[in-house]
Amino acid sequence: MSAEYLVNGSVAVITLNNPPVNGLGLATRAAAVDGIKRALADDAVKAIVITGAGKAFSGGADIKEFNSPKALAEPSLATLIATAEGSSKPVVAAIHSVCMGGGLELALGCHYRVALPGAQIALPEVKLGLLPGAGGTQRLPRVLGLEMALNMIVSGTPVLSEKLAKTALFDEVFAADADLLTAAVAFAGKIADARPLPKVRERTVDYPNHEAFLQFSRNTVKAMSGPFPAPLKCVETVAASVTMKFDDGIKFERECFLGLMQTTESKALRHAFFAERVASKVPDVPADTPTRAIKRAAVIGAGTMGGGIAMNFVNAGIPVILLETKQEALDKGLATIRKNYENTMKKGKLTQDKFDQRLALISGTLSYEEIGQADIVVEAVFEDMGVKETVFRKLDEVMKPGAILASNTSTLDLNQIANFTRRPEDVVGTHFFSPANVMKLLEIVRGAKTGKDVLATTLALSKKLKKTGVVSGVCDGFIGNRMIEQYSRQAGFLLEEGCLPEQVDKAVEKFGFAMGPFRMGDLAGNDIGWYIRKRRYVESPQISYSKTADLLCELGRFGQKTGAGWYDYKAGDRKAYPSELVNAMIVQHSADLGVARRKVSDQEIVERLVFSMVNEAALILEEGIAMRASDIDMVYLTGYGFPLFRGGPMFYADTVGLPNVLAAIEQYAKGHHGEAWQAAPLLVKLASEGKSFNG
Ligand SMILES: NC(=O)c1ccc[n+]([C@@H]2O[C@H](COP(=O)([O-])OP(=O)(O)OC[C@H]3O[C@@H](n4cnc5c(N)ncnc54)[C@H](O)[C@@H]3O)[C@@H](O)[C@H]2O)c1
Repeated sequence: MSAEYLVNGSVAVITLNNPPVNGLGLATRAAAVDGIKRALADDAVKAIVITGAGKAFSGGADIKEFNSPKALAEPSLATLIATAEGSSKPVVAAIHSVCMGGGLELALGCHYRVALPGAQIALPEVKLGLLPGAGGTQRLPRVLGLEMALNMIVSGTPVLSEKLAKTALFDEVFAADADLLTAAVAFAGKIADARPLPKVRERTVDYPNHEAFLQFSRNTVKAMSGPFPAPLKCVETVAASVTMKFDDGIKFERECFLGLMQTTESKALRHAFFAERVASKVPDVPADTPTRAIKRAAVIGAGTMGGGIAMNFVNAGIPVILLETKQEALDKGLATIRKNYENTMKKGKLTQDKFDQRLALISGTLSYEEIGQADIVVEAVFEDMGVKETVFRKLDEVMKPGAILASNTSTLDLNQIANFTRRPEDVVGTHFFSPANVMKLLEIVRGAKTGKDVLATTLALSKKLKKTGVVSGVCDGFIGNRMIEQYSRQAGFLLEEGCLPEQVDKAVEKFGFAMGPFRMGDLAGNDIGWYIRKRRYVESPQISYSKTADLLCELGRFGQKTGAGWYDYKAGDRKAYPSELVNAMIVQHSADLGVARRKVSDQEIVERLVFSMVNEAALILEEGIAMRASDIDMVYLTGYGFPLFRGGPMFYADTVGLPNVLAAIEQYAKGHHGEAWQAAPLLVKLASEGKSFNG
């Protein structure tokens, strides 16, 4: 039963009951329609109240049924709404907590709406690249007015019920301490005999000179929505609430909704939505796996990453001790944290109180004895196995039993690190991204011996820190950096063949990346890659690299921090100016290699950078380093600035078509440094079977 029915005096109460948020799945819709019919057939019933059990009135569509035939099966949401609106007895929506999407559309189809304060009211469909498809765009403007409804529908942002108390959306907003059901039943009793029954569809939207306002909205929304078509479609459908008759507006809304469902942009957003939810599920670590309590944390190393990681704990209310080897480094790290919070306060995003609270949660030490009682310690020292060994041997000595020992390493072998301790089951990788207090991604590296409870705890912690946790197995670079390595290699080869940094960056940025590889290198520091390559030259001499980046680093051009990198920089200005010196160096290097420079198309640039990553990702999937293709997409959407409207590299490859991706790879295998293009067996297999990565 996904809606309950009971009669309270002369009022029938239908309670939607489909946890967690009373999504309007097929069974719930059917039970609600049955409830209304039952009430209509009962002469003792004079009015009907619809409400929601538990934590919501209704959160809208049932995401469990998304993309399934059940979503559209009868009774559809439109049928349920028509049944409520067409009822000959008054129907009252009694709203609390959450009333969103289809839930709000159902409420708008009821004759009356009453609510408790604090309820979140929203039509958030735009966030999935859609628009409200069950009358929301036609009914909301009829009760809120054009401007307010348009803002809510275009932004998808929730508004609290008490802020809408004076609008025609609500007939009454009760006191915060009222019992909703008692108050709603009393309300229903009062209006039971009132006729005619008010219907939102019969109201009109009055907005003098609406065309000027709509044109202004189109211009603003167009400028802000980038590649996404949904926001502008929202404006067009809301406009129809003024310019068309109700039934025509509904028809138009339906057409636009179905059109948006088919767009790649909406599919990409829906993919990302589900990818995020599924990422925290690990098949052999069930949801009821016990977790360890994390009440105190420690961070080793107060450098770029250590400071940001410490801020994450503090922001989540977890006290943290930072450990350094030298007082000077510790003071510098603590001062940077303080400055970061001061800047947030200056921007008005942090109150003095909160600022004081946060700083009070951070302390520093030079002594390992002081961190022994922490529940988790995250190591963020230099990327050097020798240094990691010293630190982990020490941690093994001082940390209390049951403490989680985490490493922020970006490339080193976590299993080796774990084996420096006598408790490898307590060791896990927590790979934060820079700036660690801002970036959403947390790659959680599962070592061969990492305990299931440690993994479950780290996944839960990632949520507490407001991160997207994605599990990766152990390999050089894990999911994200192992793929980006192929991207960087191709960027280097492109320079040898005829490109300059600016052309590559522009092509990639036009594709939708926040930043091209060379501007990114200048921001992150080109010396980091140089350092890693030097290790690879020794450990993996079979891998080919362009030497161009090494030549750049030999000039001391590490990027913005040295005032010069692939580009020139001016003091106090982060703008990248093409560098004549670097460009001449690139051209000379091609000549030294005996490569005749050629004109490379933007399409080739994008394909080589993206498909080289996709090919590596296919290996990562096949080796079981990533559990699923959508996890790889999540890594790239949340950690590497991959354009959201393209859904991540794997989703993008699926939309291009795997046979097309494979054909391009085979083509590039015949070109300069063709050895870098050995098609991954999984890609070949899926392409030949007509399948896709994301199934
Ligand atoms: N910088 C990035 O973008 C980034 C991103 C992800 C992961 N990482 C990884 O994070 C780790 C730290 O990188 P970073 O960029 O913060 O380096 P960093 O050089 O900015 O900071 C390292 C800090 O560790 C301290 N330190 C060194 N040895 C120590 C020891 N034995 N005990 C205590 N403190 C010690 C240093 O004094 C320094 O303050 C590395 O493993 C790196 O690969 C870095």
